[in-house]
Amino acid sequence: MATRQIRIMGDEILRRECKPVKEMTPRLKQLVEDMFETMYETGGVGLAAPQVGILKQIVVIDVEDGNQYVLVNPEILETEGSQTGPEGCLSVPGKSGTVTRPNKVKVRAFDENMEEFELEGEEFLARAICHECDHLHGRLYVDLVEGELENVDDMEDEE
Ligand code: NI
Repeated sequence: MATRQIRIMGDEILRRECKPVKEMTPRLKQLVEDMFETMYETGGVGLAAPQVGILKQIVVIDVEDGNQYVLVNPEILETEGSQTGPEGCLSVPGKSGTVTRPNKVKVRAFDENMEEFELEGEEFLARAICHECDHLHGRLYVDLVEGELENVDDMEDEE
């Protein structure tokens, strides 16, 4: 495993549309492992492939609920309710902002073995799923921020 360099806002790769994965390859499995390592190393709870410069629809999430989620080609099927709260991003270091997201989401995706599954997330997991899926379509949370971006010293909850 190896950590990869995180692209920072302003890098135009973060604004591009990612391509669906057609088949899982050893190279993409390595990417998934590297994404987890990079995310843990930087204290994040989610990371999308474009954040390490790869325009593929791959997301990893670990919101410390005991699961390591790998979402390949994720598609949000349903959303319910709303939540408003702070959000950060490893590609926007040192900042945080208030974003409203669905409180519940249901997503369909493939895992690292290209097995299809559905995942339902609430609250923080729902927020992480929405945030990471946005990355796959060139969207950043700063587009949705209500009010101003704030400076944060604590980098713990970045996605
Ligand atoms: Ni992010």
